[in-house]
Amino acid sequence: MAAARLVVLLPLVAVVVVGHVTPSRGASGVDGVIRQVTTDGGRRWPGLLPEAQFAAFVRRHGREYSGPEEYARRLRVFAANLARAAAHQALDPTARHGVTPFSDLTREEFEARFTGLSAARDVRLLARGMPAAPPATEEEVAGLPASFDWRDKGAVTDVKTQGTCGSCWAFSTTGAVEGANFLATGKLLNLSEQQLVDCDHTCDAAKKTECDNGCAGGLMTNAYSYLMNSGGLMEQSAYPYTGAQGPCRFDANKAAVRVANFTVVPAAPRSAGGRRYDDAQIRAALVRSGPLAIGLNAAFMQTYVGGVSCPLQVLCPRALVNHGVLLVGYGERGFSALRLGYRPYWIIKNSWGKAWGEQGYYRLCRGRSVCGVDSMVSAVAVAPP
Ligand SMILES: *[C@@H]1O[C@H](CO)[C@@H](O)[C@H](O)[C@H]1NC(C)=O
Ligand SMILES: *[C@@H]1O[C@H](CO)[C@@H](O)[C@H](O)[C@H]1NC(C)=O
Repeated sequence: MAAARLVVLLPLVAVVVVGHVTPSRGASGVDGVIRQVTTDGGRRWPGLLPEAQFAAFVRRHGREYSGPEEYARRLRVFAANLARAAAHQALDPTARHGVTPFSDLTREEFEARFTGLSAARDVRLLARGMPAAPPATEEEVAGLPASFDWRDKGAVTDVKTQGTCGSCWAFSTTGAVEGANFLATGKLLNLSEQQLVDCDHTCDAAKKTECDNGCAGGLMTNAYSYLMNSGGLMEQSAYPYTGAQGPCRFDANKAAVRVANFTVVPAAPRSAGGRRYDDAQIRAALVRSGPLAIGLNAAFMQTYVGGVSCPLQVLCPRALVNHGVLLVGYGERGFSALRLGYRPYWIIKNSWGKAWGEQGYYRLCRGRSVCGVDSMVSAVAVAPP
């Protein structure tokens, strides 16, 4: 975390020192962007010298571009993303937004390569035809801990990296099955996303055109159905991740885990007027069933560096859920250094490596429906060995 924060803070220091020096004109046609000034609540950060930040970014992430034109193009994108991060910072002050490993990608490139939940579907359809999770009893809800984290119990594998493949749905699925297997057997296995990418072409029960399709997206509930029919899921070591779709090499004799069933956890109810919002059912399902596969809108994730992300619903609508991740825990009061922030939060495991976010994790505020976090929640159970 400290290292990630440094990336954001250093350039701000540099601004003060060199902000008014005439920007060097390395690449023609980018002047307007380089001089871009962003505003933050009326305060002006004079020209951030994106060129210097970009050079540091290129070194840090070992980027190689095909030539000067591509370099100049990526610099323009990077500069635009700095402005977007500043806008996100203003709109989402309890999180920190800045330079991330994805700062040289346009939003379209980023979403095409690094998300991959079957997009733009009506999430309300999801619950149709799917078995619903049993509602938590009052005692169960009353007994819920104030904070909870499956990582502390050893139910969560290391953060993985999906690469430039829209296979988030496969990582979300394996994360849920890894957790369920840990609950059933006490053993944490590293399970194979590649099997799902190569072999699972299951279509949604309610919407027949929503089929799992390797690096082009999929749904976790479809993947559970596939796993129940296929005979199980192999270990990562037996079926390693390549980040590209290939021929199916599943061998039922080598299945390490068999999926017994799955359930869908309904979205948290909203009272009339939307003033009361109760996520206790999701927390109860998490504590009872293990890490949960969820979908969310990744709009604020490309620039996320740390803290508790809490954008307004209208800026991060649930109708645009596009990324599958794993809910592993929740906390009561997440402190935000930037502005008056103690927020309850969800702890979410992502699949973009440890260089992104908080060592690969995302914290999203809890207590209201943010970024559709409660709209596509599912639990899975594995068959006893
Ligand atoms: C699981 O496998 C991935 C990819 O091979 C690896 O990066 C990761 O460290 C493994 N995690 C665990 C918990 O073994
Ligand atoms: C799901 O499978 C688990 C493990 O076999 C079992 O304990 C549980 O009762 C099943 N749940 C449903 C709803 O069938």
